[in-house]
Amino acid sequence: MTNANIAQQDESTATRVGDKLKGRVAFVTGGTRGIGAAICRSLASQGATVAAGYAGNTPAAEKFREAFASTYRTDVSIHRGNVGDPHDCRRTVAEVIAMHGRLDILVNNAGITIDKTVLKLADDDWFKVLNVNLSGAFFLSQAALRHMAERGSGRIVNVSSVIGETGNIGQANYAASKSGLFGLTKTLAREAAFLLAKAGKLTEPDNIGLTVNTVTPGFIATEMLEHVPPKVMEKIVAQIPLARLGKPEEVARVVHFLAADASSYITGQVWGVNGGLDM
Ligand SMILES: NC(=O)c1ccc[n+]([C@@H]2O[C@H](COP(=O)([O-])OP(=O)(O)OC[C@H]3O[C@@H](n4cnc5c(N)ncnc54)[C@H](OP(=O)(O)O)[C@@H]3O)[C@@H](O)[C@H]2O)c1
Repeated sequence: MTNANIAQQDESTATRVGDKLKGRVAFVTGGTRGIGAAICRSLASQGATVAAGYAGNTPAAEKFREAFASTYRTDVSIHRGNVGDPHDCRRTVAEVIAMHGRLDILVNNAGITIDKTVLKLADDDWFKVLNVNLSGAFFLSQAALRHMAERGSGRIVNVSSVIGETGNIGQANYAASKSGLFGLTKTLAREAAFLLAKAGKLTEPDNIGLTVNTVTPGFIATEMLEHVPPKVMEKIVAQIPLARLGKPEEVARVVHFLAADASSYITGQVWGVNGGLDM
């Protein structure tokens, strides 16, 4: 796959194919473009009501909202906010709950890169990436967990990266933020189970639980990769056993699988979607 068909890939749509998530409300940060937009479509294709967060690219967010409405004949609500800011994290979660009455599924997908080798990395390059990719997931999860624990069920899915497992030259900040999500996921998963047990809800026969998992995409064809020079991209693809970039939809289907009620016995896990890159 070349950079040229990235935009086309992002515009692909899926129609309603099931009702595994009927009645559920999902908030997907960075949900207006790339992998996040595919996650929104995937959750909607299973009947979920979807809210999508974005940082500031309003034209892209509006375009996404219009395309979504015409495909699913239902609205996606869009919520502007910087996940690198704890106040915005709390405000957007509260906004989604106020608008839709509940929050069942949080997908911490928003993420950025500022790539420089360690010796060239400025203080701000470090803090900005850690704030958005790791602290954002923490503050959003904290707000969502409070609500989900009160209701006795929920799903949190963090979008990490294969780079969090392998590291990469020029990505110390990004790799650290993405491997930080592993520890955050496992801790949240343990605390979520503890909170439900304390409230006596863990053993209720019909309870779908409160689970927290991470997906680790490999190299996926989105705008995030557009700045990668073609020659570097060729080298990357040559290392992938399945010999191509992944599609946003291939990550999204794992997220909707983890979000389903029937995935209640899966928690604290890391799910690779990387074409075999980490074998
Ligand atoms: N693409 C890959 O190869 C790849 C591989 C592994 C992991 N991932 C991870 O997958 C996630 C999505 O990546 P992508 O490639 O789909 O990214 P993308 O195409 O660049 O889209 C990024 C989305 O995140 C939003 N966003 C960025 N910074 C934000 C902030 N500070 N606050 C709130 N929202 C913010 C953007 O909003 P605006 O439109 O308003 O800017 C946009 O909706 C990221 O966490 C990334 O690290 C990607």
